[in-house]
Amino acid sequence: MNTTRRKLVIANWKMHLNTSQASLLLHRLHERIKIHRDIEVVLAPSMLVLQPLSMQIDRRKFRLAAQNAFYKDEGAFTGEVSFTMLRDLVHYVIIGHSERRIHFHESYEEIAQKVAAAVRNGITPVLCVGETQEERHNGETKQVLHDQITTALSHLTAAEVEQVVIAYEPVWAISTFGGELAKPDDIQRQFEFIRHQIAELYTKKASKAVRVLYGGSVDDQLAGGYLQIPGCDGVLVGSASLNYHKFSGIIDAAYRVQNSAKE
Ligand code: PGA
Repeated sequence: MNTTRRKLVIANWKMHLNTSQASLLLHRLHERIKIHRDIEVVLAPSMLVLQPLSMQIDRRKFRLAAQNAFYKDEGAFTGEVSFTMLRDLVHYVIIGHSERRIHFHESYEEIAQKVAAAVRNGITPVLCVGETQEERHNGETKQVLHDQITTALSHLTAAEVEQVVIAYEPVWAISTFGGELAKPDDIQRQFEFIRHQIAELYTKKASKAVRVLYGGSVDDQLAGGYLQIPGCDGVLVGSASLNYHKFSGIIDAAYRVQNSAKE
């Protein structure tokens, strides 16, 4: 596995920060962050903030992601925004986040449709997978990951799967759902299982190409440790991404890990 693959650091701002707050945070991050070829920093603000932020960002430093979108390209779907509408605005869309699965009852099929719509529109899906506390206690983690991955990617070809990003986010480790700290050994085991699934379902090439991230209570203190887990291509950060010091600390950790991997 290529440990010097670009590291991806994604800030999931969730339903926080209005346009001026987001703009201020971006401004401060811009001043602090250097252009780094081996690190990709992605900001996922609310839908409302995407357009104004896209005018402000320095594209050498940041990319944008949406936190969700609807899978139909156009039509009478009141309240929805399509992947087609987002295609010139974002590089990534977060799909199947546990908050969407739990609070908005997104089904496996809906998530599969969203992944397909993202790919169809030239946007990279960041597919979130992960077991709940109950599933973990019942020993169902692998079954859950298997089901989430096979269904979500079912409309894609092996070549399309190569482009996908998968974020392993155990629900019990997400700060707002409990925030229990996941152990690096366990995370590594799930990463290996995810890649094994991709190799079984698609090709070895796809399993090597797919980027796998970790998410769940990642902050500036823990990021370095998570980023050093073999096979970890980056982190998906929730609450710590709203804090300027913590988020810039996470990016610093990614620099350090990336530089030490090169030495
Ligand atoms: P957290 O959230 O970093 O606050 O745990 C991660 C996520 O929900 O993506």
